[in-house]
Amino acid sequence: MSLPSLRIAVIVGSTRPRRRGESVAAWVHGRAQGRDAAYGIVDLRDHPLPLLDEPAAASTGVYEHAHTRAWSEVIAPYDAFVFVTPEYNHGLPAALKNAIDYLWSEWQDKAAAIVSYGNGGGLRSAEQLRTVLSCVGIAHVRAQTTLNNRDDFDGYAVTPNAHHEHGLDAMLADLERWAVAMREARGAR
Ligand SMILES: Cc1cc2nc3c(=O)[nH]c(=O)nc-3n(C[C@H](O)[C@H](O)[C@H](O)COP(=O)(O)O)c2cc1C
Repeated sequence: MSLPSLRIAVIVGSTRPRRRGESVAAWVHGRAQGRDAAYGIVDLRDHPLPLLDEPAAASTGVYEHAHTRAWSEVIAPYDAFVFVTPEYNHGLPAALKNAIDYLWSEWQDKAAAIVSYGNGGGLRSAEQLRTVLSCVGIAHVRAQTTLNNRDDFDGYAVTPNAHHEHGLDAMLADLERWAVAMREARGAR
């Protein structure tokens, strides 16, 4: 299948000065090169947002602040997303939730996959994220890449076990198929 115009963002969901998320996103992005879709990295740290300060709900499409309009312009062009998320206190990072809450139509009828990490693979964070993605109208594939802090990292650098590479490839293939389907769904609106 040829998908030359498919655009997929790998979203770095953690913002700490030293963080595992950056290395994980670089691994995903590197592994995705050569696939039949254009993958880019969107690092939340490059798009700092205050705690949600828009007077109107994002579903109205009325954005008062320049930072919201800038964030909208970053996300809107993408067909699909790979959310790279750690687990913080059994949940998803506040910065990631906040960044999602800022927008609405930019997420609607798009596709996503999740790469989570933590002491137990970040599973609780990923499950919470799935609930949030459902609410904003993102179709999330079942396949998931779950990295373990102890087994798949050397300090802050990801050193994934070999089976994760095959799992990631299969997950990205699912994501691309769903991204095509959701693009058609958007066209049918
Ligand atoms: C505020 C905070 C809370 C954390 N809570 C959890 C947790 O509930 N479960 C877990 O597996 N790891 C937890 N950790 C450890 C993280 O998995 C680990 O620090 C990871 O590197 C965080 O991702 P980051 O480096 O990209 O920020 C927590 C770390 C932080 C900073």
